[in-house]
Amino acid sequence: MRIFLGVTGASGAIYGARCLAVLTAAGHHVGVCVSDAGARVISHELLGEGPRPASYRDVAERFVAAHADPAGAVELLDPDDIACAFASGSSGARAALIAPCSTSTLGHIATGTGATLIHRVAEVMLKERGRLVVIPRETPVSLIQLRNMTTITEAGGIVLPASPGMYAMPESIDDLIDFVVGKALDVLGVDHALFPRWGQQDTAAAGTHR
Ligand SMILES: Cc1cc2nc3c(=O)[nH]c(=O)nc-3n(C[C@H](O)[C@H](O)[C@H](O)COP(=O)(O)O)c2cc1C
Repeated sequence: MRIFLGVTGASGAIYGARCLAVLTAAGHHVGVCVSDAGARVISHELLGEGPRPASYRDVAERFVAAHADPAGAVELLDPDDIACAFASGSSGARAALIAPCSTSTLGHIATGTGATLIHRVAEVMLKERGRLVVIPRETPVSLIQLRNMTTITEAGGIVLPASPGMYAMPESIDDLIDFVVGKALDVLGVDHALFPRWGQQDTAAAGTHR
């Protein structure tokens, strides 16, 4: 499957890293695009080098090198490369994930600006009735942000907040990340075993499901 992965400048770069790792390990072809702000957050949160990297491209390359699995294929795309295949509905790609998704990118998608490759791919998915999953990370949220999420949902996208459930009894931050990534893969129709399915785990140990 060919999947586009946009990594934008919301906190939670680890969500994008884990999506890339799991999708490539499963043999998928992933087009990765890191926004400039996404590179800042990767540099700060994953590389521990602060939010002002010397080169956004260098950060994106290191992100791919660190997290992609050789079982899959990766195409690293620049945010201004609106001539790449993923930017056109005729490319046939029908799945895109934006993880994490900033509120800025939510606004661009909701208003259809097509300003960067990430915004354009989201627009293409919506117009072609493909799968668009966005994972916003912000709290609290303004009415404007809520309306943008509503607009994206009305247009056929899936808004999947970075909001891990606790009923799977997470034991680590990795478990929390995998819960959110697994939910995103579920709606994209990608198989995974990132968390125990409700009803297939030790429910006595798992407590009460709400
Ligand atoms: C370290 C850091 C953390 C940020 N965290 C968030 C966040 O959690 N959510 C959000 O919507 N924006 C966050 N931002 C702000 C976005 O990066 C900013 O709005 C940017 O313009 C988004 O651009 P993009 O959507 O093209 O990536 C953060 C910025 C930095 C530098």
